[in-house]
Amino acid sequence: MTQSLTIARPDDWHLHLRDGAMLKAVLPETARHFARAIIMPNLVPPVVTGAQAAAYKDRIMAALPAGMDFAPLMTLYLTEDSDPDDIAAAHASGLIKAVKLYPAGATTNSASGVSNFKNVRAALEKMAEIGLPLCVHGEVTDHDIDIFDREAVFIDRVLDPIRKATPGLRVVMEHITTKDGVAYVQDNATDLGATITTHHLIINRNHILVGGIKPHYYCLPVAKREEHRLALRAAATSGDARFFLGTDSAPHVDDLKENACGCAGCFTATNTMALLAHVFEEENALENLEKFASRNGPNFYGLPVNDAKLTLTKGAEATVFPEKIECSDGPVTVFDPGFDVFWTVADQ
Ligand code: DOR
Ligand code: ZN
Repeated sequence: MTQSLTIARPDDWHLHLRDGAMLKAVLPETARHFARAIIMPNLVPPVVTGAQAAAYKDRIMAALPAGMDFAPLMTLYLTEDSDPDDIAAAHASGLIKAVKLYPAGATTNSASGVSNFKNVRAALEKMAEIGLPLCVHGEVTDHDIDIFDREAVFIDRVLDPIRKATPGLRVVMEHITTKDGVAYVQDNATDLGATITTHHLIINRNHILVGGIKPHYYCLPVAKREEHRLALRAAATSGDARFFLGTDSAPHVDDLKENACGCAGCFTATNTMALLAHVFEEENALENLEKFASRNGPNFYGLPVNDAKLTLTKGAEATVFPEKIECSDGPVTVFDPGFDVFWTVADQ
């Protein structure tokens, strides 16, 4: 018997689209299912100014295949030289929906990120004043902090002090990976939200390392112990308005993933919605999938829920997802959950 679930069309509150040939290759994978996405600004060079964001938005719209309906929600990359007035103008014009904080050196293309948080105080205060959310890559970069502890330490040493010093600042903890991240959100008021990726609901650190290293499961923040995955599952499927989908779908060509120094990033745009239906069904929470993927995010960002719908169906045969997306720079491997999935997104 075919089971079917119709939800408001989802949005992706954390997405890497890149630029050039890669943008062209991956954009349809997101636009096929998602109405909007928060677009990460970690290009080389990064998207720092309003003018750069406007030009990047134009390139995204130019790469969108005819007939596809998709709205990129632009962000600026916060640097120690960011101009608070430029940020405010980009917000006032409706161009940007958030500013992204990368601690310098935390992840892919984060070299221009923040080292001394005192140097971004004026920008943060301006954002609190105008109600512009800060999206945070929440990991410290200190060499003496174990990579598996970097999120929890960031909360204590960086995030909590920033929030205390900046009342009214709305913060999204991006791609949380620990029960500490979940608890910090749950303990705080509604000016704090968190995105959770699809892959962190599916893999723990064993999936990356046991039986040989699996480069396509390596991302940042790195997947943690099973107890953390379970905490993320509980949060995502709970319906709690503070948790919403941000896939962090992050394409890299296979040569750069299957490499002695492989890049961080899982590419999940293609199969995210089917995988989420599988996860939510496993947790007996299919009724909360719409909140996680389609309602809680717009609610946090003060945007309307999409009028359009998306239908998922569950059939008797396992869904066949493409193994790779072709790009003229090289193939990009689609995230493999490692189990059969019977859900699929119905043709629109
Ligand atoms: O795994 C990741 N990939 N984490 C990030 O924070 C950045 C992203 C990328 O840009 O590839
Ligand atoms: Zn990301």
